[in-house]
Amino acid sequence: PTLRLWGGRFSGGPSEALAALSASVHFDWRLARYDLAGSRAHARVLHRAGLLGDEDLAAMLAGIDALEVDVVSGAFVATVADEDCHTALERGLVERLGAELGGRLRAGRSRNDQIATLFRMYLRDHAKQIATLIADLQQALIDQAAAHLDVAMPGRTHLQHAQPVLFAHHILAHAQALSRDAERLRDWDKRADVSPYGSGALAGSSLGLDPEAVAADLGFSASAANSIDGTAARDFAAEFAFVTAMIGVDVSRIAEEIILWTTKEFSFVTLDDAYATGSSIMPQKKNPDIAELARGKSGRMIGNLSGLLATLKALPLAYNRDLQEDKEPVFDSVDTLEVLLPAFTGMIATMTVHGDRMAALAPAGFSLATDVAEWLVRQGVPFRVAHEVAGASVRYCEERDITLEQLTDAQLAEISPFLAPDVRTVLTVEGSLASRDGRGGTAPKRVAEQLDALAADVAAQ
Ligand code: ARG
Repeated sequence: PTLRLWGGRFSGGPSEALAALSASVHFDWRLARYDLAGSRAHARVLHRAGLLGDEDLAAMLAGIDALEVDVVSGAFVATVADEDCHTALERGLVERLGAELGGRLRAGRSRNDQIATLFRMYLRDHAKQIATLIADLQQALIDQAAAHLDVAMPGRTHLQHAQPVLFAHHILAHAQALSRDAERLRDWDKRADVSPYGSGALAGSSLGLDPEAVAADLGFSASAANSIDGTAARDFAAEFAFVTAMIGVDVSRIAEEIILWTTKEFSFVTLDDAYATGSSIMPQKKNPDIAELARGKSGRMIGNLSGLLATLKALPLAYNRDLQEDKEPVFDSVDTLEVLLPAFTGMIATMTVHGDRMAALAPAGFSLATDVAEWLVRQGVPFRVAHEVAGASVRYCEERDITLEQLTDAQLAEISPFLAPDVRTVLTVEGSLASRDGRGGTAPKRVAEQLDALAADVAAQ
């Protein structure tokens, strides 16, 4: 039997076309257990307000429990005729308790305050799950850093060789970005931690129900201060979509480097067979599909954020049916990250790092030229002059197809009288790395310090 929550003033049921357009049960069914938790809390405030007797409350809670068992087992399923998960579950309750008792639960609540609350509950749980998955990825990055603590690599700007850095320093930079993403999720929760239950359709309830009690029952610190805002606000969803998009973008930046590093030209890392794919035609191929999917899916999550913001733009208060469009993009971002992050973490954890190859390329491309300039500054030469001299050294070497380290004493003196043979002390990758020893720098002791701090942070989460 079809149950509609709004049949009274209508002469007949909705057209098939309307029902098909209107239905959200195929995507909001994932909120079913949150809806049932909301129903329990609501039954208890109805009881406390004297609108449900002791026995009725007990029967109601037992009915909700029984329905939950059937929802979990799959014995109770929503049908297309159920407009949304709230309607489906109310039908389930009426089927179990009869229309008289089952029909009492609707008092003082609306799908508008229900959905605004359930959506928050769902996202708060998944924010915690995603934070755990991020911590796993950070741990994989930290482990790779720890396993290659003394490996130098070419540090790049504009994708060109810039200055030598430690591989650990580089890979921990990605872990630092992920720390801020995890922090964003925790910070987001402070604002999501408000329950709109009790806001009713928009104006609040006349039945003497206690929204604060429902909020506490559902794990929120507070109830909505404004029922109109409670039912109409979706900035919590948009902000969540932003954080997921940011995570996607941060992961895509690691992904892009993995894609480059696995090319023949770089040969910095090799992916484990279990985390790489082959080609249907080229037998030799080993492709970094996980990284490419990460890169691609970041675009999808950006789209989810943009789409949701476009839905919200200029929407008048309070609830409008447009708001039913809020869930699919955010659910999609949750699903995307929850399937992407474990695969990505596995790929990072199992990849083989070719430290010798990276180290061999670390001084290439005159990446020690800055060290020459800074050595000159330490000798009292103004930086403007030092920069000129170091640049002239590079040009001199380029013309002769030699490296800075190969310059003889005579050639150094020919380039500039400032270039004493002692400059060679900084013309090694080790010397260059060790000299950058301010906080956050690439000196091995600083990187080790950073690694310890980050590992402690991740372990504390
Ligand atoms: N399913 C709707 C949503 O997801 C909630 C129902 C509110 N419907 C209504 N006509 N007020 O937003």
